[in-house]
Amino acid sequence: MTKKNKAYSKVKIVVTGGAGFIGSHTVVELLEAGYLPIIIDNFSNSQPWIIDKIKEITSQTPIIYEGDCNDKTFLEEVFQKESSIEGVIHFAAFKAVGESIIKPLDYYKNNLSSLITVLETMQKFGVKNLVFSSSATVYGEPDSCPIAETAPRKISPSPYGKTKTICEDIISDTVNGCKNISAISLRYFNPIGAHPSGLIGELPIGAPNNLVPYVTQTAAGIREKLTIFGNDYPTDDGYGVRDFIHVVDLAQAHIKTLQYLTKHKSPFYDVFNVGTGKGNSVLEIIETFQKVNNTNVPREIGPRREGDIATCYADVSKIKKMMNWETKKTLEDSLRDAWKWQKSLK
Ligand code: UD1
Repeated sequence: MTKKNKAYSKVKIVVTGGAGFIGSHTVVELLEAGYLPIIIDNFSNSQPWIIDKIKEITSQTPIIYEGDCNDKTFLEEVFQKESSIEGVIHFAAFKAVGESIIKPLDYYKNNLSSLITVLETMQKFGVKNLVFSSSATVYGEPDSCPIAETAPRKISPSPYGKTKTICEDIISDTVNGCKNISAISLRYFNPIGAHPSGLIGELPIGAPNNLVPYVTQTAAGIREKLTIFGNDYPTDDGYGVRDFIHVVDLAQAHIKTLQYLTKHKSPFYDVFNVGTGKGNSVLEIIETFQKVNNTNVPREIGPRREGDIATCYADVSKIKKMMNWETKKTLEDSLRDAWKWQKSLK
């Protein structure tokens, strides 16, 4: 078999938003697992050079189409050209919580319409498997932790969070109605870190909203100091507690999910938490970051951020039992890799 034929015999997976933070790490894992990822990205919140870094890490070349998932004609052209697609991992979406409050229509329009267009195109071309990028935000303020998938979904304060809940419902209804698509929504907890190579990672535009990118930028001197949003929470040390998962572990969960989807012949819809199962406080994050990287993070205590909850961490027993997936990386790994990535950006 020639090299060219070999490439064409690989299982093709469309990855929308494949140049983004979680998308790019998932593309790396797909390539390393022997899949052929077909990236669709409009680079509205990512950089084309990330593709070169993916090639550098894997010594392989994903297929890339620049365009928007809301553009039905474009999407159909891609699916037509790349026949026999095994599945789609749909990452492409707007994701800034604060921005979604200011621009709700942009969020509803983009996040819902792109999913609908992806589902329509999957139906039209007989593509049977979908992995959807959901979020722990669908649980809102949980009644207790760890949070299992059976916990009620609550109304999120942000339009971003609401789009995740609505998207889950759109997928569930489509699977029930059309009976020829299987889908899984992965509810991510707090993805952090970067590829251990230091070649790909998160690229926030402007001041980061999330904790770890703000910590790395502060340590790098780009930000003067980190403001901690409250230390009077009803937690062990008073700081907010989250489930911080290394992005490479999270990316690998997508491979397990694809394998799980294709193993089951009858169409079904299900949801899985993806986290470590452990809660760490904001203070623990800062102190561990300083320790493993031998650096300093100037900080101050500020008021609580509106919409924040005290504690949020996952019950991961379902994904462990049903997909035999669990995290391999430690918090130290995550924070070391996050710093390596930050330093590479200088
Ligand atoms: C948010 C989103 C979640 C999304 C996740 C990752 C909500 C309610 N949460 O989670 O959907 O999946 O981002 O993108 O929509 N903190 C500070 N100072 C900072 C930044 C954060 O103290 O400058 C604290 C926060 O108060 C919180 C913790 O750090 O206790 C984590 O915050 P963040 O990284 O923004 O993630 P979440 O709000 O948990």
